[in-house]
Amino acid sequence: MHDSFRTTAKIVGLGAYLPERVLTNRDLEAMVDTSDEWIRTRTGIRERRVVAEGEALVDLVTRAGRAALADAGVDPREVDLLILATATVEQPIPATAAIVQPALGVVNAACFDVSAACSGFTYSLNVGRQFIATGEAKTVLVIGAECLTRYLDWTDRTTCVLFGDGAGAAVLRPGAPGEGILQIRWRTDGSYADLISMPGGGCRYPPSSLASIEAGLPFIKMRGNETFKVAVRSLTEISLEVMEAAGIAAADLDLFIPHQANLRIIQAVGKRLELTDDQVFVNVDRVGNTSAASIPVAMTQARDEGRLGPGSLVLASAFGGGLTWASSLIRF
Ligand code: ACO
Repeated sequence: MHDSFRTTAKIVGLGAYLPERVLTNRDLEAMVDTSDEWIRTRTGIRERRVVAEGEALVDLVTRAGRAALADAGVDPREVDLLILATATVEQPIPATAAIVQPALGVVNAACFDVSAACSGFTYSLNVGRQFIATGEAKTVLVIGAECLTRYLDWTDRTTCVLFGDGAGAAVLRPGAPGEGILQIRWRTDGSYADLISMPGGGCRYPPSSLASIEAGLPFIKMRGNETFKVAVRSLTEISLEVMEAAGIAAADLDLFIPHQANLRIIQAVGKRLELTDDQVFVNVDRVGNTSAASIPVAMTQARDEGRLGPGSLVLASAFGGGLTWASSLIRF
């Protein structure tokens, strides 16, 4: 196996936070014209977490970030960079990463947000590892967090049943060759920008525009069926590309952590990669699609469930709005 960098970035701590409030498929039956049966068979989702009144993105980010720093045993003042992946910012200005800086105590870190929808955490891992590889950063905190339920149209059954809130975080430190993030590949295809979008609330359709609100533009829109096909193809291709670059076969993987959008996508990709069910991590039934939080939350839960530990070889692949997709191979 060869590595892209002599100094790799190693994940030395993981943490996650999910809001306490559970929204079940049965709850949704009372809100829109849907059924538990439709949601389970089409998506695999049984329930998702939703922020409480008064709770917002910074609360999720802060809890997940603190958990990862504590897990790593790292003093927050040692963090050089805080990279927050989110598509559901606390507010447009300033960056949510800057807002949470004091609460996290990462007072010496440069803090910024990355927008790459569901691929945001993997994109941010790639940014973080570059700074570690060049020696410009010694400790990087990467967080993926979303408060998607605040951006949903709760009368649109094609989207409101799919998403949930949550946050997950990882602390990166320099690692030796052969450990840490061994490979990452990332891709964007903006010609599919309108497949998953939130058209309102920006400069074309400003938040102040009543017409935009009346037209339902400041809500997440998705052309699910078309997205499904591109997701299966892209996730499969980029996962194979990463494994080939690292010179490993599917059987070498201890765990595959795909973006948790839909169980049918996960199963289709798992089959194409010739993985056994035991190699594929699934929590979409419990958390729904948490976008940028999906992979770090899954990693943390896999670790807590004993399915990922020191020495594990993990492939994590993401796909989302942009379109963006990315895959990372990590030796824990
Ligand atoms: N309850 C009941 N019926 C529904 C619901 C619902 N919640 N939602 C849609 N339907 C209906 C539709 O209206 C349609 O009815 P019709 O045949 O009478 O027109 C029928 O169900 C089938 O609709 P499809 O959209 O074709 O259903 P599909 O099997 O494709 O499942 C889904 C939809 C779950 C969205 C799926 O396409 C999917 O998961 N797509 C990929 C999502 C994804 O990967 N997103 C990427 C990340 S998201 C991000 O970046 C933020």
